[in-house]
Amino acid sequence: MHIQIDKGGNVPELVKLCKEEEVKEDKIKAVDVEGVPVLLVRINGKIIAANRICTHKTFDLANGIYGDGFLTCPLHASTFELETGEALNPPAKDPLELYEIVVQDGYVYIKI
Ligand code: FES
Repeated sequence: MHIQIDKGGNVPELVKLCKEEEVKEDKIKAVDVEGVPVLLVRINGKIIAANRICTHKTFDLANGIYGDGFLTCPLHASTFELETGEALNPPAKDPLELYEIVVQDGYVYIKI
């Protein structure tokens, strides 16, 4: 699921998500960007943004089981590595889509 907005051009746009301080180390934060469910998490100080819908059967991973940079879907136990998005075990095969973010003036923006 891609974030797509008709901007009338291909110039990247920054959309403000939240204050930087709201993204805590090793804690999943759910946000919605133009109707797309996104998760934010800080791992070793770096903020990661990923689509938060399990690529197996569309479970919202805001309710997933998180630990040490890995997020496990409680429905069928696929685990995703959040820094790469990679699905590490079946039944999910496809990675979570990752999004580019920018931290600026104390706020987190997603690049779309
Ligand atoms: S819905 Fe996530 S592993 Fe099946």
